[in-house]
This record gives sequence, C-alpha cells and structure tokens, in this order.
Amino acid sequence: MKVLVTGVGGFIGAHVARRFLAAGHAVAGADDFSSGYRENVPPGVELVEGDLAEPGTITALPRDCELILHLAGQSSGEISFDDPVSDLRKNTVSTLNLIRYGIACGARRFVYASSMSCYGSVPDAPIAESSPCLPLSCYGVGKLAAEGYLRVYARQLPFVALRMFNVYGPGQDLSNLRQGMVSIYLAQALAAGRVQVKGSLDRFRDFIYIDDVVEAWWQAAFRAEAAGQAINVGTGRRTCVRELLEAMRPHVPGMDWYVEGSTPGDQSGIYADGRQLGEQLGMTRFVPLSEGLARFAGWARAQSA
Ligand SMILES: NC(=O)c1ccc[n+]([C@@H]2O[C@H](COP(=O)([O-])OP(=O)(O)OC[C@H]3O[C@@H](n4cnc5c(N)ncnc54)[C@H](O)[C@@H]3O)[C@@H](O)[C@H]2O)c1
Repeated sequence: MKVLVTGVGGFIGAHVARRFLAAGHAVAGADDFSSGYRENVPPGVELVEGDLAEPGTITALPRDCELILHLAGQSSGEISFDDPVSDLRKNTVSTLNLIRYGIACGARRFVYASSMSCYGSVPDAPIAESSPCLPLSCYGVGKLAAEGYLRVYARQLPFVALRMFNVYGPGQDLSNLRQGMVSIYLAQALAAGRVQVKGSLDRFRDFIYIDDVVEAWWQAAFRAEAAGQAINVGTGRRTCVRELLEAMRPHVPGMDWYVEGSTPGDQSGIYADGRQLGEQLGMTRFVPLSEGLARFAGWARAQSA
C-alpha cells in the first residue's frame, strides 16, 4: 500500500513514516520545512516539498496514495497568536486541500493530527471526546475547524481525528522553546540547569510517549471501528507541572526551576478519558512517564555530546 505522510520532516511525522516503511509500505511525504528538518525525513520517502495550503503543492503529490496521514501543521498554540491567518492557512486550509485531494484520488482513509487544544477550559476530571469543544487558542480553533471539514466530507473520505495530548520523546525539536512542554523544560535543564516555567506549577497535563502515539496512528489507519471518530490520544494519567519537573530531576541532576510569565491561550489543566482509545484502537497500556523521560533525556544528551 502507498501512504502519504504529511509533516514528514517533523517530530511525529518522521516517527510515523518510519513505522509504515518498516512494515513494508511505500511512503510518500510532504513538508515545507517551516518547523521541520530535511534530515528528519527517513530514507526511502518519496518527498514533495511545499506548503500544503498552496494548490501547487497539492498538484505535485502522487495520485496513488490509499492512505493519508496528515501531520503537517503549525504545532504551537503560543505561535498561533503571532499570525493567526498564517496558522489558519497552515493548519486548516492545508487540511481542506488534502481532503479534496484524497477524494479525487479515491483514498480509503484520512487520519488527522488533531489536538486536545480543541477542548479549551475543562473541569479537573478525565475529558471524554463528547466534552464541549471551546478552544482557547487560534491553534485550537483551526484544529477543530479542520475536524469539521473532515465530518462534512466523511461520506466521500472516511476519517479518524486523533486528538493528541502532550507528546514527548526522542526526535522532538530541542531548539524550539515555544512548543512541547517536556522538550522545552528538558532543553533548558540540559543547557542551563534552570527551567523557566511560564504559568503555575499546579497546571496539569497528560504526557504520552512518542512510541505510544505512533501505535495509535498505526491502529487508526486500519481499524474499522475507528472510522468517523475523534479519539483522544493520551494515557489518562494526570501529571502536574511540579510532578513532571520532579520526574525529570534524576535525569538532569541539579536542575532547578522558577516560575515567570505565562503563555497566551494556555489550558490550565487537562487529561484524557482514554476509554475510546482502548475500545476503538485497542490501546490500554502506555510507556510510564519515568521510563519515557529516561529515554528522551538519554537521546537529548547524545545529541549535545
Ligand atoms: N507534539 C504534540 O504534542 C502535538 C499534540 C497534538 C497535536 N499535534 C499535531 O501533530 C502534528 C505534528 O506535530 P509535531 O509535534 O510533529 O510538530 P512539528 O512542528 O515537529 O512537525 C510539523 C511538520 O509540518 C511541517 N509543516 C507545517 N505546516 C505545513 C504546511 N502547511 N505544509 C507542509 N508542511 C507543513 C513542518 O515543517 C514540520 O515538519 C501537528 O499538526 C501538530 O499540530 C502535536
């Protein structure tokens, strides 16, 4: 089978592409390298370079992809406020273009990189997919709108929207200090021994290791029961920022932190209700945070060595 992986030069897209290549599938990739890197693109990927919001990039894509895994996008809530129109183009217009391309090519499924940012402010309880979606950032608005377009065209192109929570692990961009809570803290801890926490230490998140996320993408591509669903991709475990920093400490001895500033559109706390992930994608066991952090910190140290 031929698979199109967009955002193939990015953190999650490169991992997902490697999984499909390893299973023997042909992989085409697309990326404009606005935040990703050419060197991330796994060998063997047939690459189309360009912004998927531009019709010219869509025209250059191969026409024989059966599966579309759409991970390209501007991936930071904070950055979405710098230029909201650009965020809308990069995340939502690109998705609409790709849906229409998928229909024209007769693709059999479209899996979309949605986000927990769709939910906005939520109570301190596991958040199910049926919860109201009232995003707080321009990024979240764009992700939710993209899900809306997928529903509009669902009869012509079956979809799965994966609402990923906080993904972390090797391959994450340690030079980007505006996306990825774990990678931002780890990068600062390794570089300076001191982490700036923008917002309360009592905020809480659901941190999911990259291998578990890749498994969710794999299952979402094939499982019949996932079609037409938005599915949370989180561990169901609530971890506050203070606990995250304490869990990082053994891997970066002597690290410290201070609280200063805030992030626009930040959610104060959110973690997943994982029942649908279990029922529809068969995932109930996850890499524990301590183990994931050990692997990530080991990789990060090797990068800087
Ligand atoms: N990392 C997370 O915790 C997380 C959580 C929820 C959702 N997501 C979503 O998952 C996807 C992948 O995230 P990531 O962490 O790998 O981010 P990333 O920035 O590492 O990867 C995104 C890739 O998409 C490319 N890109 C951006 N806009 C593009 C466009 N219009 N056309 C072509 N290429 C484009 C970038 O150059 C980059 O290589 C994103 O859509 C992001 O919004 C990520």
